[in-house]
Amino acid sequence: MEAFLMELVLCLLLFFTRRTWAIDTLTQGQSIKDGETLVSAGGSFELGFFSPGNSKSRYVGIWYKKVSTGTVVWVANRENLVSDASGVLSINEKGILSIMNGTKGIVWSSNTSRNSAEEPIAQLLDSGNFVVKDRNDSDSENFLWQSFDHPCDTFLPGMKIGINFVTGSERHASSWKNTEDPAPGIYTYRVDLQGYPQVVVKKGADILFRAGSWNGLYLTDGPLAVNPLFSSEFVMNENEVYYTYNVQNNSIYTRFLLNPSGLTQRTLWNERTNNWEISISQGY
Ligand SMILES: *[C@@H]1O[C@H](CO)[C@@H](O)[C@H](O)[C@H]1NC(C)=O
Ligand SMILES: *[C@@H]1O[C@H](CO)[C@@H](O)[C@H](O)[C@H]1NC(C)=O
Ligand SMILES: *[C@@H]1O[C@H](CO)[C@@H](O)[C@H](O)[C@H]1NC(C)=O
Ligand SMILES: *[C@@H]1O[C@H](CO)[C@@H](O)[C@H](O)[C@H]1NC(C)=O
Repeated sequence: MEAFLMELVLCLLLFFTRRTWAIDTLTQGQSIKDGETLVSAGGSFELGFFSPGNSKSRYVGIWYKKVSTGTVVWVANRENLVSDASGVLSINEKGILSIMNGTKGIVWSSNTSRNSAEEPIAQLLDSGNFVVKDRNDSDSENFLWQSFDHPCDTFLPGMKIGINFVTGSERHASSWKNTEDPAPGIYTYRVDLQGYPQVVVKKGADILFRAGSWNGLYLTDGPLAVNPLFSSEFVMNENEVYYTYNVQNNSIYTRFLLNPSGLTQRTLWNERTNNWEISISQGY
């Protein structure tokens, strides 16, 4: 009986310490050192410092928590690495995120067009979106900043690729330089407005291939063309044009990747085989 009680207490302790460690939010005055992470509330994504491939350089990234291969979906300081394990990510009173290295040099910082938040916090959402918002305001329209506005090589469910005519800003995915350097490479995945709006892969200024045209219902030949697992949407109005998709079932992990050689791949995580299965692959 005593042994059982001991075990129960230990279990509860473990449960609560785990709970307190697995935070999804960074508030002013808090920081994440290399080795510490944020975990989204549902346990889908994790954010922290990592090194790509055999590289020793440190980057702040987001990867799937439940996927054993450590698949990175987003990188903050793509173009400016931290050379050792002294990096720290923090948020200031204006809601600006920054990564500092061991000599207090700012390696990367986010930006925001608004600074009207009462209490800005950064939160890793279960969609994989890392957002800066007012603590009490969960309306996505009011986010001060979000990683989904700055895609890297991975187009996740809920992201938008496209052009905002009001702000003039464009969201597109860009390949990594190589598997050990997440800096923007030469390939981009974007909405192109010349002729019939379409999703294209470009190498520099040249269209390499068309990933699908919008026929009013779905992207013909697109990565998501009539697939029962996804619902894709191509929105076009006077304010913006964008392409997005959502999964019908949140326990399905799927991503659309533009790899360093310009190949696009739609992959699905297979929990039984612990593998990313390629469902569509397009190259040139
Ligand atoms: C820290 O970052 C600053 C700014 O990017 C840079 O000038 C400096 O060399 C970096 N320090 C180290 C030790 O890497
Ligand atoms: C944010 O962007 C504005 C203009 O877009 C620029 O003037 C400002 O310096 C940027 N701030 C930071 C912290 O990068
Ligand atoms: C946020 O909401 C909590 C609880 O509703 C309240 O106590 C707190 O004052 C609010 N904070 C701000 C900055 O509005
Ligand atoms: C979602 O997918 C999981 C895993 O494949 C499955 O167990 C579950 O029943 C699905 N849920 C719905 C609502 O389809």
